[in-house]
Amino acid sequence: MTAAPAPLPAARTAAVVWVNGARQPAGAAHLSALDRGFTLADGVFETVRVYGGTAFRLDAHLDRLARAAAALEIALPADVRATALAAVAEGPASASLRITLSRGPGAGGAAPPPVAGPPTVVVAVAPLAPFPPSLYEHGLAAHVASGRRNERAMTAGLKTLSYTDATAALVEARRAGADEAIFLDTRDRCSEAASSNLFAWDGATLLTPPLSCGALPGITRGAVLALAAARGVPADERPFGLDELVAAREAFLTSSLRELAPLVRVDGRALGDGRPGPVTRELAAAYRDLVRAECAA
Ligand SMILES: Cc1ncc(COP(=O)(O)O)c(C=O)c1O
Repeated sequence: MTAAPAPLPAARTAAVVWVNGARQPAGAAHLSALDRGFTLADGVFETVRVYGGTAFRLDAHLDRLARAAAALEIALPADVRATALAAVAEGPASASLRITLSRGPGAGGAAPPPVAGPPTVVVAVAPLAPFPPSLYEHGLAAHVASGRRNERAMTAGLKTLSYTDATAALVEARRAGADEAIFLDTRDRCSEAASSNLFAWDGATLLTPPLSCGALPGITRGAVLALAAARGVPADERPFGLDELVAAREAFLTSSLRELAPLVRVDGRALGDGRPGPVTRELAAAYRDLVRAECAA
């Protein structure tokens, strides 16, 4: 008899799960053992934050999902938006919504089957516990990953199921006593963090690596660039190296769940005075206002 798997921490337990358009008990077995998402990471996904029962920028996430699915020639079922809305409506008010799309079950081998079978779509809504206030008050320390983000990879810029590189970088970061990992690209330019985009404030301009450095086109990144423009904060999407990052007065990481997380230390060196700075705070507050306006949360 095999031991039952350990339960997930309460805050991460998926409360509502839909598989291929049908609501399922959250704890049930849902997928084929031959699903290519499981065996080959042959699929794409989105993580969306739900505020007060509304998924923030759901359509932008669905557009990104559709673009990634199209690039890999995985069919995206037409009802995915309706399913996501149904799952969110049944889920907790403060939640994370994950939409996972794989090519579905298949025989071994990387080549996609000559005739596509039905894809697998899992929509899961899990309660989201608040992040610790210290994250925003004190900020994060990052380790620069020893490996590189390959900006010329076939899948650069796509949110595929393959996060092993990010996990390996976070394992390395933890070993180095850091909270986060920063990836450089193959030309040693800053790319992004393990699963967040990177911003740096050099005292005059808000810098963020362009997508050509291998960064994901983050939904939060786009919102922050628009907020900066609206507030007259000069911003530039241009390549910069580690020297510029460690010389920055402030830096922060952006992602849907964590929003704007101050970055205060890189490889043991303090950025600015080693505390979250005023530009980061201003943009983080503006982002919360934006969320409140769009989600009434
Ligand atoms: C590699 C990577 N970069 C950036 C982001 C941030 O993207 P978003 O703001 O759309 O959540 C993510 C999100 O998970 C990510 O996985």
